[in-house]
Amino acid sequence: MSIPASNNAALARRDLKHLWHPCTQMHDHESVPMVPIARGDGAWLIDADGRRYLDGISSWWTNLFGHANPRIAAALADQAQTLEHVIFAGFTHEPAIELAEELVRITPAGLNRVFLADNGSAAIEVALKMSFHYWLNQGHGEKTRFIALTGSYHGETLGALSVSDVALYRKTYAPLLLTPFLAPSADTYEGEPGESPEQIATRRLGELRTLLERHAHETCAIIVEPLVQCAGGMRMYHPSYLSGLRALCDEFSVHFIADEIAVGFGRSGTLFACEQANVSPDFLCLSKGLTGGFLPLSAVLTTDGIYQAFYAEYNAGKAFLHSHSYTGNPLACRVALETLAIFRDEPVLERNRVLAAHLAKRLAPLRGHPHVADVRQTGMIAAIELVADKTSRRPFPAAERRGLRVYLHGLQHGVLLRPLGDIVYFMPPYVVSEQEIDLLVDTAIVGIEHAVRN
Ligand SMILES: Cc1ncc(COP(=O)(O)O)c(C=O)c1O
Repeated sequence: MSIPASNNAALARRDLKHLWHPCTQMHDHESVPMVPIARGDGAWLIDADGRRYLDGISSWWTNLFGHANPRIAAALADQAQTLEHVIFAGFTHEPAIELAEELVRITPAGLNRVFLADNGSAAIEVALKMSFHYWLNQGHGEKTRFIALTGSYHGETLGALSVSDVALYRKTYAPLLLTPFLAPSADTYEGEPGESPEQIATRRLGELRTLLERHAHETCAIIVEPLVQCAGGMRMYHPSYLSGLRALCDEFSVHFIADEIAVGFGRSGTLFACEQANVSPDFLCLSKGLTGGFLPLSAVLTTDGIYQAFYAEYNAGKAFLHSHSYTGNPLACRVALETLAIFRDEPVLERNRVLAAHLAKRLAPLRGHPHVADVRQTGMIAAIELVADKTSRRPFPAAERRGLRVYLHGLQHGVLLRPLGDIVYFMPPYVVSEQEIDLLVDTAIVGIEHAVRN
């Protein structure tokens, strides 16, 4: 059904009558507009009245090669006419087989087994359960705990939320959740004055060692977002933390779960963030960019050694029985294959390096802004930390919702920015141009001026 022009208001009204949106206090929509998007075109979203918005956050960090990317859309259409779905237990299909082969080929060494699920949180559930179950199968049922980093975010199903440390999402449900041990993140923003990112990482690894000395015997795994803790405020840390973490996990017989759901597929500057520390985790969780932003799909990669701990005669009761109806959905697998083909066919990472350098150059002047405490960047992720007082880094009272003002300013000026609290960040699709980056930054700068005023 084609949507007639000048229909934003009518669609928003119908939406608000029945729909309940994620990550939203629905009451906000008494004043904040609901934006009905009719179509996408490259880095742009076009609403039902024909207004265009530059997608500065890749629609929750999923999109890589543009909205309605014709190459991915064609692969999807072809697959839809061939095989849309089939039960993935006892049956298989070529898109899943090829996807597993390709993921094993491009991910860090040693990750030879691929378990599919259908969203990021589900991948985290799989990794947590697999780690626990591995130790159980090995006769270590006493390992029932997990270690997570302060400021981490791994999703919002109960297991994934359990190992997350963002109060906004976790606090309400705390009585329902597992309790992980929290290790302090090597977040550079929280470093001591004068401390280098590498020194912060070393100090934090020392604290992790102390935690492991006390609790490794009861710990299955430590889960981390490699290099950038995204939903926790785009907090960044030095790669040496990951190499140190790998060594500690080996020393203390604890699994290393790398959640690259947000930072995988080129976001961090390398195809996978773990590459920057030259480490292979025991579990690698992937989603979001895996399908170029087209369809929900996730993958958990693990080692042959872990796989073998489950491989036994049926009545031994060691199988990993976790399942989702849409596991291995052929449409999603085919779209993922096409996304990975773009990485093979085009100089994506090289192009991103140029775009990231341009973004860095444009953001640099903000370091001197009286309400900017930090400007940080890792590859195609950049963030600006707004504060009430630059010297003490005192934040604005959360209730003032300064970031929301930046969001509203962006909407009015055709740019989708969605600050995390008062942290304004940029995570554009890789098809963005330098001129479009200029538009993102210029709009953010004016938005920030409005936001920090009394
Ligand atoms: C690092 C990380 N892990 C897990 C998730 C959860 O993924 P999903 O929203 O697909 O459940 C997210 C989502 O933002 C994420 O950033």
